[in-house]
Amino acid sequence: MSITSTTDKNDWEILANWAAYCGSDVIELNLSCPNKWLDGQPVGMVADDPEAIVHIVALVRSVVGVDMRLSVKLPPYSSTIPPRILSALQAININMFVSCNTAGGHPTTIDGEQVLSMPQAGLSGPALCTHSVQQVSYLHKVIPNIPVIGVGGISSGADAKRFLDADAIGFCIGTHFFLNGPKVFGEVVQELVDLTED
Ligand SMILES: Cc1cc2nc3c(=O)[nH]c(=O)nc-3n(C[C@H](O)[C@H](O)[C@H](O)COP(=O)(O)O)c2cc1C
Repeated sequence: MSITSTTDKNDWEILANWAAYCGSDVIELNLSCPNKWLDGQPVGMVADDPEAIVHIVALVRSVVGVDMRLSVKLPPYSSTIPPRILSALQAININMFVSCNTAGGHPTTIDGEQVLSMPQAGLSGPALCTHSVQQVSYLHKVIPNIPVIGVGGISSGADAKRFLDADAIGFCIGTHFFLNGPKVFGEVVQELVDLTED
């Protein structure tokens, strides 16, 4: 189960309790949703606040216990993760990273026409792939003890292979599934098998 909230809300404990109560195998802490707005202003992401990262993960860990697997969903950071954030990510007691969420701050207009209710939103899909692959590889280098699941722009077996070659232990498909339905999972996996058998 994936749970999300903000730094200024006190509901991480409630959400973690609920996720554990529901029998989750893994609880993902989505610290990186770029689409939260309050009074017309974007709400900062937990993943950009090192103290909040450490505090929220410790709080959730204290609620769910040492045996629950926790993953943290990260945003696409700049090419090197800022040192204070990296220190926080190295300090937390989790089992996996999921990298990465959409890239926030993209305008939601087409030819000047406002097409979504919020003025900016997260970018997903193929444009994210190269950056996300690089981030998976970088995370593996700087935090080698925590496995990474790759996500961002996968729409073929070749895309998925880029993540696995960057040492991801698995991958997720968002936009391609959203646009083309559940058949994409079998297709991408078959393409991946064909590629690795060649
Ligand atoms: C329609 C849509 C809804 C999404 N909702 C969530 C969400 O609720 N929680 C989350 O962590 N990520 C969410 N994401 C982000 C995806 O999980 C993924 O991290 C991101 O889109 C990059 O992968 P992709 O290029 O394969 O879509 C959403 C993406 C899309 C396109």
